[in-house]
Amino acid sequence: MTAIKDKTIWLTGASSGIGLALAQQLAERGARLILTSRREQQLEELRQSLPNTDNHRVLALDLSRPEQARESAQQALADIDVDILINNAGVSQRSKALDTDLSVYRQLMEIDYFGVVALNQVVLPSMVKRRCGHIVTVASVAGKVGSKLRSGYSGAKFAVLGYMDCVRAEMAEHNVQVTSILPGFVNTQIAINALQADGQQQGHNDPEIEQGISAEHCAEGIIKAIEADKAEAIIGKGLSALAPTLKRFFPGLVRRIVAKRDA
Ligand SMILES: NC(=O)c1ccc[n+]([C@@H]2O[C@H](COP(=O)([O-])OP(=O)(O)OC[C@H]3O[C@@H](n4cnc5c(N)ncnc54)[C@H](OP(=O)(O)O)[C@@H]3O)[C@@H](O)[C@H]2O)c1
Repeated sequence: MTAIKDKTIWLTGASSGIGLALAQQLAERGARLILTSRREQQLEELRQSLPNTDNHRVLALDLSRPEQARESAQQALADIDVDILINNAGVSQRSKALDTDLSVYRQLMEIDYFGVVALNQVVLPSMVKRRCGHIVTVASVAGKVGSKLRSGYSGAKFAVLGYMDCVRAEMAEHNVQVTSILPGFVNTQIAINALQADGQQQGHNDPEIEQGISAEHCAEGIIKAIEADKAEAIIGKGLSALAPTLKRFFPGLVRRIVAKRDA
């Protein structure tokens, strides 16, 4: 069991959506938070709105530059033992493989894959030394099942899940927990911020995201999975949450469904 109270939790993507809901719920449970995303002012406003304001701090980082982010974090957190790292920051995609610029694939990999690897490198040595700690990555159902318009996003999320599986195997002897979270559709800014073929943001929501579970509901599921030291947890409703299990037992059916759907 991983307890939340009095733990130092480094949370990325804290300025919006799932991360914002996580920040609120973790602070209510008595965690000390390090809040990360690019937008420092939003993070500072969030910090001031949280219970026990002085227990939390802001660390603005741009994960599209993972080496720089890792260096800045190593300096900023040199005197801090992080108990739990939640890699939640991420960016999605809405564009066909035929049209998408290679730079968009690279950007998705930088943020959704290398960003996770880089921040894990900041905390894992100390966790191994202390023989305790927990790393969590918010991947996606898209990391198990590919569908239209998400070839770069799914590629990065498949990659991060493979990476997390390997790290889990290596960390077992060091008593460090490793949890991957696979949300289905969650009603956040993810579709609005999703990258199009030329790297511009989509700028509008998608119906399936709007009809997804709330960010608060998703955050509750993530906290439960952390507390229970789950290796992997799928959080969502409907087809988006069933898809990984369906693919395992009926792969042909899932291939037909994703080929028929528009997105
Ligand atoms: N919503 C869904 O349906 C869904 C489903 C499956 C998985 N997920 C995953 O859930 C995670 C959270 O997404 P969300 O739905 O909450 O989306 P969101 O509302 O768009 O939030 C994304 C967060 O990531 C941060 N971020 C984006 N680019 C960044 C960068 N270059 N450097 C640092 N931080 C960056 C954003 O902060 P700044 O803009 O301040 O940098 C923001 O806090 C993502 O990993 C996403 O892939 C979401």
